[in-house]
Amino acid sequence: MKICVYPGSFDPFTIGHLDVLTSAASLFDKVYVGVLNNTSKNPVFTPDERVEMIRKVIDSYSMKNVIADQFNGLLVEYAKKINAGYLIRGLRAITDFEYEFQIDAMNHHLAPDIKTVYFMSSPAHSFLSSSTIKEVVSLGADIKGLVPDCILDKITERLNKK
Ligand code: PNS
Repeated sequence: MKICVYPGSFDPFTIGHLDVLTSAASLFDKVYVGVLNNTSKNPVFTPDERVEMIRKVIDSYSMKNVIADQFNGLLVEYAKKINAGYLIRGLRAITDFEYEFQIDAMNHHLAPDIKTVYFMSSPAHSFLSSSTIKEVVSLGADIKGLVPDCILDKITERLNKK
């Protein structure tokens, strides 16, 4: 069985993440969306809230082979724990490449048998990031179409102060 982890902060999950997740779910037998339980990045949503939102997305798109989970510590150790042989990352633009190159080199050093598979964002979503979504919604912008509909209200209620 081919198992992969799609790791990230997902603060919050966007339509760009959904793009990558849909591609991964069509290629792998089982996909774990691994929410990094990090304290250093000052997330707006708690890990539990992020997992809950991703579960709503999974339900709403009937993704039967996708599981939302959270992890602490090293990604490759989490991957080993759940028997995942592959990591999934999305690439939006050349600016992502250097960061991803560093992560890949470190993960490869730590666990050479675990391979990373990259999906290019669709051009329509290449400008999207969780940070820009948080910024524009907090300034009053409508983010419909930029995040999955089923989590739009939760994100807007938390961040839109106008
Ligand atoms: O969506 P993000 O925030 O760019 O995801 C980054 C993530 C979660 C993939 C990365 O920070 C990570 O794997 N963190 C866990 C710690 C780890 O394993 N670090 C080694 C690779 S640099």
